[in-house]
Amino acid sequence: MNPAVFADALLNQIKHTHYGDHPPELYDPIRYIMDLGGKRLRPLMTLLATYLFTDEWQKALKPAVAVEVFHNFTLMHDDIMDQAPLRRGQPTVHEKWNHNIAILSGDVMLVNAYELLLDVETPILKQVLARFNRTAAEVCEGQQLDLNFETRDDVTEAEYIEMIKLKTSVLLGFALELGGLIACAVDSSVAHLREGGINIGIGFQLKDDLLDVYGDPIKFGKQVGGDIIANKKTFMLIEALEKADGPIKTELLGWLNRTEFDKAEKVEAVTRIYDTLGIRQIAETRINQYFACGFANFEQVVAEPARKALLIDFATQLVQRES
Ligand code: IPE
Ligand code: IPE
Ligand code: MG
Ligand code: MG
Ligand code: MG
Repeated sequence: MNPAVFADALLNQIKHTHYGDHPPELYDPIRYIMDLGGKRLRPLMTLLATYLFTDEWQKALKPAVAVEVFHNFTLMHDDIMDQAPLRRGQPTVHEKWNHNIAILSGDVMLVNAYELLLDVETPILKQVLARFNRTAAEVCEGQQLDLNFETRDDVTEAEYIEMIKLKTSVLLGFALELGGLIACAVDSSVAHLREGGINIGIGFQLKDDLLDVYGDPIKFGKQVGGDIIANKKTFMLIEALEKADGPIKTELLGWLNRTEFDKAEKVEAVTRIYDTLGIRQIAETRINQYFACGFANFEQVVAEPARKALLIDFATQLVQRES
């Protein structure tokens, strides 16, 4: 099977998804953010997971779109919280319209996600909804921790990993789990898929943090340095706080405590500190470790090797991603 078949079917399903019409101020931003593209990795993971166990992968199309709509809802609200100007190379919804519109459009996207999830077959509906609900609550918990951490400078690496597991990884885990549930896979395989998704999700968020510092702004499509400006306790910053001492530590803490600063100057100075401390290499090693754990989880899934290879190839591309 050519993986482009999954991507084409997914894009077609998204194109034909109806979110609502009136009033347009509520629904236009949904079409806007959904049409901005993005990698669509979560719904593709759902389709690939279903295909591991059955040829009837098209059954997963609508639920896969539900996951993508939910993801885009979290981005719309995340961009308000992070005061982000750019998303996928274009103005964020709260910048293009306003905060209230971004809040309300996001709210109705969550409802749209539920509507799309209702498409799963009745025998699995309750389980799918229960797992989705838990996942959605965990994303909120992670997002709150992410905000709490902005004003602390003693966040440990363990706390950080728990935070990104919640805000990002559980949704990748759910995307794969959902695919397995739709295919009626055995419980153990569904559990290994979810675990693999979580480990890959941790590596994925670590890479997002790295690209936030070292990414090419055009390819990344988001404001490079946004995490540094907001004092986000990313892996990079936590590691730098741990490694730095003497004048470098004083300089780093100085930037964290300053309330008035030139944004470009802060981003440049903190990036230079990361360079001096070799933080990028440490992060890259850690990313590879988490992806390797994810692949080990996938090894445990009972499915045709050729089908598993599609999933592993797809996840491997995420290690090297630049966007
Ligand atoms: C961005 O997710 C938010 C994170 C969890 C890092 P993606 O990097 O998957 O964003 P899109 O959907 O491809 O734009
Ligand atoms: C966001 O993490 C995760 C969620 C949207 C739940 P980030 O804040 O790092 O995501 P980006 O970088 O804005 O995409
Ligand atoms: Mg955020
Ligand atoms: Mg953000
Ligand atoms: Mg980020």
